[in-house]
Amino acid sequence: MRKKNVAILISGNGSNMVELIKDMKKKNHPGKPVIVISDNKDALGIKKAKKLGCETKIIEFKKFPSKNDFEIKLSSELKKLKIDIICLAGFMRILSESFISLYEKKILNIHPSILPLFPGLDTHKKALSSGIRVHGATVHFVTKKVDSGKIIAQGITYIKNKDTELSLSKRVLKIEHKLYKKALINFLKNKNDPLLVLDKNL
Ligand code: GRF
Repeated sequence: MRKKNVAILISGNGSNMVELIKDMKKKNHPGKPVIVISDNKDALGIKKAKKLGCETKIIEFKKFPSKNDFEIKLSSELKKLKIDIICLAGFMRILSESFISLYEKKILNIHPSILPLFPGLDTHKKALSSGIRVHGATVHFVTKKVDSGKIIAQGITYIKNKDTELSLSKRVLKIEHKLYKKALINFLKNKNDPLLVLDKNL
């Protein structure tokens, strides 16, 4: 079967992107990392993608007169490369309904909380101040309502008494790295049962 063409959209560090690319390089993976696109020219992830031999493109949001113009450029690049699936990995832009409708059920995102808890930003801070004792990450479909699309996979860790935003974010990011690659494989193989990844110490 033909491998599906995957584009990864980033804005910054790109550690989830690195994990996805490394995994897709494995022989029997159903996906192929065709391009990494950043909306931010200074994204550290761009260098990392190049080092892994992946094609990269910067489509700088600031350079476009409107979000619509930015998305027109983005969709034309994706179309040119015959992209089947888009993985958002720390991509800090909210995509419009019209862009999302071009790729319905084909855009995945990873969010650093157990959705529907703590959508939006500052999820680790919100988790710590809520008093909840578990936290984690979610891979979900992107829909017009932010962080609300159908959940594909979740990863769970605990919250220690002495956790800070930093220590918790590091632990959640480790879970994210395991979670996103497994979720992508399941999705590409049409395995629709939800996937759960637990912190090894749980
Ligand atoms: C991750 O925490 C992800 O859940 C969120 O943005 C962060 C990106 O980290 N959407 P990285 O760029 O993959 O290191």
